[in-house]
Amino acid sequence: MKKSTSILLSSLVALGMLSTAANAEVKKGQKAYLKQCKKCHGNGTKGAAMHTQDEWEELFEDDAEMIIKAHEGDKSEKYFKGKKFKKYGPHIKDFLFEYGSDSGNVPSC
Ligand code: HEC
Repeated sequence: MKKSTSILLSSLVALGMLSTAANAEVKKGQKAYLKQCKKCHGNGTKGAAMHTQDEWEELFEDDAEMIIKAHEGDKSEKYFKGKKFKKYGPHIKDFLFEYGSDSGNVPSC
């Protein structure tokens, strides 16, 4: 009884840590979104609601090939093809996915 309680507790703690780490990714992505995407696509709520979670998966598949293509010929092309997007792209995806139009979540920005 005691042992199973402590196992239960430690798995709860582990779960809690996991979701905090995931949240940190989403927060980082939100920050990067506000910095890099908001000027053209509006606030985070609007940006994330451009697509469903499945569509965000697709847009960011294969090193974000589709979303990079969508910006070819645009002012933002340089950013999408640069180091910064390589680094922050995955976080931005986490943020957009978390708040995709069918996620039921609404960010506070
Ligand atoms: C300088 C302006 C600009 C910036 C910065 C920018 N975009 Fe775009 N984005 C565009 C334009 C222009 C298009 C192509 C026209 C369209 O489809 O609206 C586009 C297209 C897209 C599309 C595909 C359109 C669709 O409806 O499927 C997505 C998704 C997107 N952008 C997300 C982002 C994200 C995420 C960022 C930040 C990392 C970003 N954009 C930064 C201007 C910008």
